[in-house]
Amino acid sequence: MKRIAYVLLLSILGPGVVAQDSLRYWADKLDKYIGSSVEDYFFLNDFWTMTSRTYHKIMIGQFNMIVAGNEMKFDATEPQRNLFSFTKGDIMMEYAGTWGMATRGHCLLWHNQLPGWITAGLTDGVDNGLYSRDTLLAILENHITTLVTHWKGKVREWDVVNEVFDGDGTLRESIWQQVIGDDYIDSAFVWAHRADPDALLFLLDYGAEGLNSKSHGIYAKVQELLGKGIPIHGVGMQCHLTTNDINFYSIESNVKRLTDLGLLVCFTEVDIKIPADEFSTDVALQRQAREYGQLLSIFLNCEQCPSFVMWAFSDNDSWIPDHTAGTYGQACIYNLKYQPKPAYYALLDTLRAHNGVNVGLNTAASNPFSIVPTLVDDHFIVTSETGSPEFTTAVITDMAGRQIVKLKEITAGEPVYVSALGKGTYVLTVTDRNDNHYLMKFLKK
Ligand code: G3I
Repeated sequence: MKRIAYVLLLSILGPGVVAQDSLRYWADKLDKYIGSSVEDYFFLNDFWTMTSRTYHKIMIGQFNMIVAGNEMKFDATEPQRNLFSFTKGDIMMEYAGTWGMATRGHCLLWHNQLPGWITAGLTDGVDNGLYSRDTLLAILENHITTLVTHWKGKVREWDVVNEVFDGDGTLRESIWQQVIGDDYIDSAFVWAHRADPDALLFLLDYGAEGLNSKSHGIYAKVQELLGKGIPIHGVGMQCHLTTNDINFYSIESNVKRLTDLGLLVCFTEVDIKIPADEFSTDVALQRQAREYGQLLSIFLNCEQCPSFVMWAFSDNDSWIPDHTAGTYGQACIYNLKYQPKPAYYALLDTLRAHNGVNVGLNTAASNPFSIVPTLVDDHFIVTSETGSPEFTTAVITDMAGRQIVKLKEITAGEPVYVSALGKGTYVLTVTDRNDNHYLMKFLKK
């Protein structure tokens, strides 16, 4: 039934819905996944409204990966013991299949959004003895095996254990940890792998993107799991970030140490929230855009990072305002009316640049300068289309905003040598005699 609805939807949206020059188009070319979480009301009650059409047009046109925001969690899938409900998750998986999207499964084990029959085992957050270790292990095995078997071959990446660490890097005292003990994590991965050996299995958390006590705890745990031969394939960094408070060096370092272990790293729930007193200001939206671009660039520069998924793509559907009592918001790449924000264009430009397409980062259409977007030699040449070829300075920064090279008194048309540049994406900023800045991204191979 839903499949018919999707075919009808295609006829309404038009065959060109998977647009060229979209996030998805460029991500596909790089063999990367770019995605968003989705909300069930756009798939069920609200399928044919204009808002829903706009929503699906963006979802299908811009993304090649999808994750259910709530519909595959424990409370949604096993509301009563051993009585499973797959309908909403199935609808989303079918949608993904119809539109050629990869999927993430979220999530098999969490301390939150558990059904009442599980949380009955806690009183004031403490194990009340309702469940023995063996009983809870059997419940967990049944839940994980049933879900992973049901969606076998359909879920590319499973979030197996979600948010199991406290801020100090020790294991959270959830019902699973209190009743079963720390080895519930090992078992969860083993059962998931047994049910679908081809699925990629992740441990994920929030607030552990950079180097800190929590991420040190995670690093030690995944080393331990790998040492024991537990089938874990990667770590998910949720990336619920706040503008003007992101340490990209630290995130890069953490990604590196995890991938050095042979693990994959996914950015699984990206949003960058803005404080209410900065809402809709140009300064905040431009800063947020740069931050989205920088984060995506860390991801694209990492060979062992397959998926970059946002937690909703529109401010209209974001969890942030509700969960912060309105003190933060505007965290997504589309606004309340599903119009692309500067952050969307920053992602698009970053993807284009990684595909070797020259992009002018300044929004003014009149950038008189251009460079060859892919640098294979040790020099570049800035060319000028206008009669004013001179500029005073040229600065090269990396995607984390670090200044790498500053060059003075450069003339358009002449080679500029930059032999010290390593592989990666950079931004070249040139400043003309009138102090206008022009930005161009390039890729050093
Ligand atoms: O299902 C009830 C519905 O019956 C009721 O009518 C309605 C009234 O408010 O509430 C519904 O439950 C809501 C649920 O989402 C499903 O829509 C809860 O109130 C609401 O708190 C819940 O929020 C979700 C949150 O997880 C819960 O912690 C967000 O939508 C979801 O985006 C968010 O996702 C988490 C990730 O799973 C893990 N990482 C953090 C991320 C953000 O919190």
